[in-house]
Amino acid sequence: MATIARQLVDAIIGDFPHHKAGTRPVHTVGVGVSGHFKASECARSYSTAEHFQGQQVPVTVRFSNGAGSPVERDGWSDVRGMATRFYLANDAATDLIAMTLREFFVPTVKDFLAFCEAARQTPVARQSPWSKIADMLQLIRPSPDPIPGQAESGAAGSLAYANHHGPARSAVFDAGQIGAPVSYARATYDAVHTFVVTAPDQARRQVRFLWQPVAGVALVDPALPPVNAYLHGELRTRLRSRPVEFLLLMTIGETGDAFDDPTIPWPARRVRVTMGTLTLTKVAADQSANCEKISFNPCRLVPGIALSNDPILAARRDAYEVSREMRGGTQCPFAAGPR
Ligand code: HEM
Repeated sequence: MATIARQLVDAIIGDFPHHKAGTRPVHTVGVGVSGHFKASECARSYSTAEHFQGQQVPVTVRFSNGAGSPVERDGWSDVRGMATRFYLANDAATDLIAMTLREFFVPTVKDFLAFCEAARQTPVARQSPWSKIADMLQLIRPSPDPIPGQAESGAAGSLAYANHHGPARSAVFDAGQIGAPVSYARATYDAVHTFVVTAPDQARRQVRFLWQPVAGVALVDPALPPVNAYLHGELRTRLRSRPVEFLLLMTIGETGDAFDDPTIPWPARRVRVTMGTLTLTKVAADQSANCEKISFNPCRLVPGIALSNDPILAARRDAYEVSREMRGGTQCPFAAGPR
């Protein structure tokens, strides 16, 4: 019997029929970038974590497309990822993994396996105009046309799952209309889970993290035909003229907010603190070491920031390790934080 971690990875692979052995099963296409992070003046009063003390901390960031396919389909509507590694003193490091969706699809590991099963890709075809009219006469929304070149999709299965599982509705709805960013530098990336930060006075706060692009958010016009590969080139060109900056925002949860459930976004009216600025300066020269082979893990934390009791967050620790082993990723020299 496979471990739960292996079952999770296999379930993801099952959703991407074009998965290629030796690559990430999801967020397969990516680009590694380097730069630094500098905490804001107030950050250290919220967390004793080393990267929040104000010194300049080197970072590697991997931007990615969400799909588990090695084909670069930048123009397709898809979730995008931003995985950041902060390099600390004495060969320590900590990671923060975020995506362009503000909530996750399911609250438990069991639900994740069921969701993956439901979201298997099925063939998609353009609906005939007559069938569209027939649907509209019955007040049924006609199927959206497939993207040119798209033969399969997991959208129908995800929708059917969400119809019967309330917690998945928000993420399935948001993912369905997420679109394609004009640049990896022009999207907001949410770390989704709750973490617990400890202040110098030992005050513990439940928080969520978000990367806000200084350049602002911009999507490609969905009416334009999708372009396959533009995001890596756009980033290289952009970095030649100026650095790419993101603000790290930390939202502080209040009593009654969902601390252990990543499917529930917190109310908008919460205190939000700027924890620092990320400045990316160049596309990493070695894309094998600093992108393809690197292995990020959301549970790789340092004192001053800890996991919440979110079961999805806990499950990701071993799932990412199993995936790293399967694809021959570089073994991480840093001890993973407490569960
Ligand atoms: C049970 C839930 C989840 C499972 C089983 C899972 C599994 C995985 C796996 C196996 C990988 C590839 C890891 C590697 O080979 O290095 C991955 C990558 C990734 N996941 Fe998840 N994931 C889950 C939830 C999430 C959530 C909630 C987020 C939102 C922040 C997320 C964002 C990402 C991103 C951005 C990457 C790409 C990381 C990189 O660039 O290396 N995942 N996920």
